[in-house]
Amino acid sequence: MNPTFPTIAVIGAGAMGRGIAQIAAQAGSLVRLVDNQAEASIQAKAALADQWDKLAAKGKLDAAQAQACKDRIQPGTLSDLADCQMVVEAIVERLDVKRSLFAQIEDIVAPSTVLATNTSSLSVTAIAAGLKRPGQLAGFHFFNPVPLMKVVEVIAGLKTDPAVAQGLARYAREMGHTPVQAADTPGFIVNHAGRGYNTEALRIVSEGVADFATIDRILRDQVGFKLGPFELMDLTALDVSHPVMESVYNQYYQEPRYRPSVITAQRLAGGVLGRKTGQGFYNYLDGKAQVPAEAPAPEVSDMPPVWVSTRAARRAELLQLLKDLGAKIETGQSPSAQALTLVAPLGFDVTTVAVVERLDPARTVGIDMLIEDAATRRRVLASNPATRADMKAAAHALFARDGKPVSLIRDSGGFISQRVVATIVNIASDMCQQGICSPADLETAVTLGLGYPLGPLAMGNRWGPTNVLEVLFNMQTVYGDPRYRPSPWLHRRGAIGLSLLQEES
Ligand code: NAI
Repeated sequence: MNPTFPTIAVIGAGAMGRGIAQIAAQAGSLVRLVDNQAEASIQAKAALADQWDKLAAKGKLDAAQAQACKDRIQPGTLSDLADCQMVVEAIVERLDVKRSLFAQIEDIVAPSTVLATNTSSLSVTAIAAGLKRPGQLAGFHFFNPVPLMKVVEVIAGLKTDPAVAQGLARYAREMGHTPVQAADTPGFIVNHAGRGYNTEALRIVSEGVADFATIDRILRDQVGFKLGPFELMDLTALDVSHPVMESVYNQYYQEPRYRPSVITAQRLAGGVLGRKTGQGFYNYLDGKAQVPAEAPAPEVSDMPPVWVSTRAARRAELLQLLKDLGAKIETGQSPSAQALTLVAPLGFDVTTVAVVERLDPARTVGIDMLIEDAATRRRVLASNPATRADMKAAAHALFARDGKPVSLIRDSGGFISQRVVATIVNIASDMCQQGICSPADLETAVTLGLGYPLGPLAMGNRWGPTNVLEVLFNMQTVYGDPRYRPSPWLHRRGAIGLSLLQEES
């Protein structure tokens, strides 16, 4: 082992500092651990020793390696920093405190020492402002728990020397992590790209389109997310996630795309934080979420014939699906007086489509066909305010015939998956448009940092940049809300059918 920085210091021996110290020592660096609470670095050294003993017991390290790691952790004070080639801070998230810490450190270390901050929400440029050598400082943003979350954002502030960022990226790889390069902008990559998922889900709930559990089921089963947005917020807890939503929104001067929700503000105020308080979007009993059961598909003995709108998305696929489900399909120019009338809009609501296509709203039901049926584990139907109960029941029973679960939601512009996918793709596209990071780094950061099934741009490619663009255009029409305006990046690529990962030459 011959690390880029043979001797480093980690300031702040809390959750993050410990994790960074662990992977740095494993990479072969001598780690000086400093904390302003006298006992904190001693306790951290003991906790790390336990950790290495456990890894050795599992056979992940041999006893000699574990001992060598332990020996590389040296609790100390700021005055011990003179021989460090790199100093990373993971102290309290306050600009004034971080600034004064780096001003002190600058007077102790060599001019060539790299200074790094693990800040998650402050500006790297602002932390470096006022230093004698602001070019030596960069962001080095890890995720919790550090040893398991194998990605780190390397953030160059306005004055950061490119060699400093390159050195940190090389060191990240030596620690077994994947570095991604981010411009110094609010939320950097992961906390910026992550805005689409929760905020759009919260808007959907606030419109009464579906309840928490239904939205979670739909996003897991249709799009393939490991956790639904409400399960995820319960896990991270609202005292962490709501302030991040507010911080990114306010730092972007109330950009509508990132608008937080009164739902989480109120829950935070009321202490309904999530799993750790036993009550969140779900109630927890012995640590297990209490999830309301789904209503079974209705029994329908007299199934009406089905007519499919000529403008339905994936119309050929939908007709094949209906055939496979044994439906009586009408092929006329318009539906008969008995027919269940199916529409499959992208971005538009079922109500608008029924009116525009001059269909009988009482018999019109919509189905979400953005994602191909074979790739999903659930079908989603929406009725409009006039849809008759027997038509809803017929559609539900028909699409459940092969055992695939069906969710019936209230009408809204865009179905749930369409809205959430389009919002995620649009925010990611706009990050590329702004040059916050490369498309490739965006995909890496989001898949490793957020655990999405696909990177946001790959998600857009998978279901068609043109379709995603259409969803946004139509939603903007339905809602008249600038939060759905397509990013120029998506607009250009969607309009001419190019990959969203394609950089401009
Ligand atoms: P923590 O509260 O677990 O640990 C902070 C440690 O810093 C404490 O031991 C405290 O005694 C020490 N400290 C505070 N002020 C100090 C000072 N002036 N000098 C020396 N030591 C000082 O906090 P955590 O969660 O480890 O966060 C640390 C930093 O990492 C913050 O900037 C936070 O925003 C950032 N971060 C946190 C993440 C998380 O999920 N917890 C994820 C990514 C970044």
